[in-house]
Amino acid sequence: MKKILIALCLSFLTVASFGQNTQTSIAIIPEPVSVTQTNGKFTLPENVVIEAGSQPEMKQVIAFLKDRLSIPTGRQVTVNATAPSATIRLLLNQKADATIGKEGYQLSVKPTAIEIKANQPAGLYYGVQSLVQLFPAAIESKTKVENVTWEAPCVEITDYPRFGWRGLMFDVSRHFFTKDEVKSYIDNMVRYKYNLLHLHLTDDEGWRIEIKSYPNLTKVGAWSVKKVGYFGTFEKPAADEPREYGGFYTQEDIKELVQYAKERFVNILPEIDVPGHSLAAVVSYPELSCTPGVENYQVRSGEEIMDWSQGHPPIALVDNTLCPANEKVYEFLNKVVTEVAQLFPFEYIHMGGDECPKNFWEKSDAVKALMKKEKLKDMNEVQSYFTKRLEKIVMAKGKKFIGWDEILQGGLAPNAAVMSWQGIEGGIEAAKQKHEVVMSPTTFAYIDYMQGDPSIEPRVYATLRLNKAYQFEPVPNGVDPKYIKGGQANLWTEQVYNMRHAEYMTWPRGFAIAESVWSPKEKKNWNQFVNRVEQHFDRMDVAEVKYAPSVFEPIITATRTADKQLKVELTTEAEGLDIYYTFDNSFPDRFYPKYKEPLIFPKEAVMLRVITYKGNEPKGRLMSIPVEELQKRADQKNAAH
Ligand code: ACM
Repeated sequence: MKKILIALCLSFLTVASFGQNTQTSIAIIPEPVSVTQTNGKFTLPENVVIEAGSQPEMKQVIAFLKDRLSIPTGRQVTVNATAPSATIRLLLNQKADATIGKEGYQLSVKPTAIEIKANQPAGLYYGVQSLVQLFPAAIESKTKVENVTWEAPCVEITDYPRFGWRGLMFDVSRHFFTKDEVKSYIDNMVRYKYNLLHLHLTDDEGWRIEIKSYPNLTKVGAWSVKKVGYFGTFEKPAADEPREYGGFYTQEDIKELVQYAKERFVNILPEIDVPGHSLAAVVSYPELSCTPGVENYQVRSGEEIMDWSQGHPPIALVDNTLCPANEKVYEFLNKVVTEVAQLFPFEYIHMGGDECPKNFWEKSDAVKALMKKEKLKDMNEVQSYFTKRLEKIVMAKGKKFIGWDEILQGGLAPNAAVMSWQGIEGGIEAAKQKHEVVMSPTTFAYIDYMQGDPSIEPRVYATLRLNKAYQFEPVPNGVDPKYIKGGQANLWTEQVYNMRHAEYMTWPRGFAIAESVWSPKEKKNWNQFVNRVEQHFDRMDVAEVKYAPSVFEPIITATRTADKQLKVELTTEAEGLDIYYTFDNSFPDRFYPKYKEPLIFPKEAVMLRVITYKGNEPKGRLMSIPVEELQKRADQKNAAH
């Protein structure tokens, strides 16, 4: 009896400490093309033998699998090129299987053996990612975990991506992220079968890549004054304040990153953002500007440099553009592109083109003379002239040109691919003109936006909730899909000061975008996705990767009743949550009133506090919203109607 009790206690403890232990439900992100669960479970033996080829491309496939199967489990894992009694076989097809293509795989889990087959090592890598997601969350641990039953459900999976371009953009200019941080970003993205990292390497706040022919770009252009708070509202630093904040990647660093990414089947797309967003370059080499006096400019430390009140393009308060009428600019770009092209093997180079102010160009005699000479009607045509010359430079280095959708204005360069960010319209127009398109619209894929209520998120000027990101559809109606290469989410980092926050902003919206670019459109299902997200939060907890729990927090809507009382409605993105609230300043838990219908804010109350539960378990963070904030929202809403 005592023994039975101890055994019961132990099994209870095991379940309590790792809720996923008994998991048999399958929760792979992104959802595979076809999953058939079969009877039984695979249990990891004490000695695991992996059979896998020894090609160099297999190195990371094997290393990743071996780490996951040995570090948390303490199991012995050996790898052999041929192993008749292998536990796990990673097999490259002798004859290519056309269904699964270059990146697809077939995964078969049987009670005593696992087999992954693919045409290429990339497919095996993705098969391994799916396999790891079949094991309990504890498989993500960086250290050994006791009392776990290392089981995976038996299953037959066939899987391949919908798009070849599955990207995340990481802005390493607004705030600099070290080489190791970029590697860790790659480590996380490949878990969700992303294959493209777009590095936004230059902007007004920093030039982040060593260019040997222009050393000032990183001697001067990579450094600003450290500030914290709301980026964009800071005071301009004094001229003599030390500029020690920032950094850059040496060319050796870039080679290392490219290699690191390649081993994980990721291409790096470098972006050199010109002719706007170029203050760091202008400060480093003032002769690249049309404007006198830029010698006194500084790399931006978050002070205001643009006036957006007139819409797009913005009015520049300092001239952050390269001069399109200056031959030195084309010499500069030729040398920069030469070095960039040599460093990055990926077929595209991104040359920016977004948000280029024209007010300084309008004042420039050199630009006026260029317009006359080249018969350019307006400033859009001036930018288009610049872009077409730049496209020739890029193509002369054997690369393809891609730019933000502003490059459509004034006429698209003949071979340019377009990254559609101002909604999907630019992408639709470019595809109509038979140009390649990558979709990354603000409306679905801008993961620098807030993902929950502004009372709890660091303030950004817009919101993109998980359910909206999940609706991302890269192929608009009526567009020939052959022009849509795929899609990506963009993480701009004005308000992202550190790596933990970069993770927080990326996940779980990165799951949603991954599913939009990998999974068949007809397999997407929001409720089912949220269930999987919840399980992946458990995995990220174990992996010590930060994510935003905002999807489990209430959406708070404040309005006025006909008799001007403040009314509050609470809803949730995810199903199955209960919301508890207080108006008396105390902290609600599940023993407080449960939200059932719109609330009238009590007359003299000062604060609404809310929290969500799923059953007995709190899911979201406690949110506290002062009455003034709700009044402001209600009155703005009423004014807008
Ligand atoms: C952009 O968001 N300015 C491309």
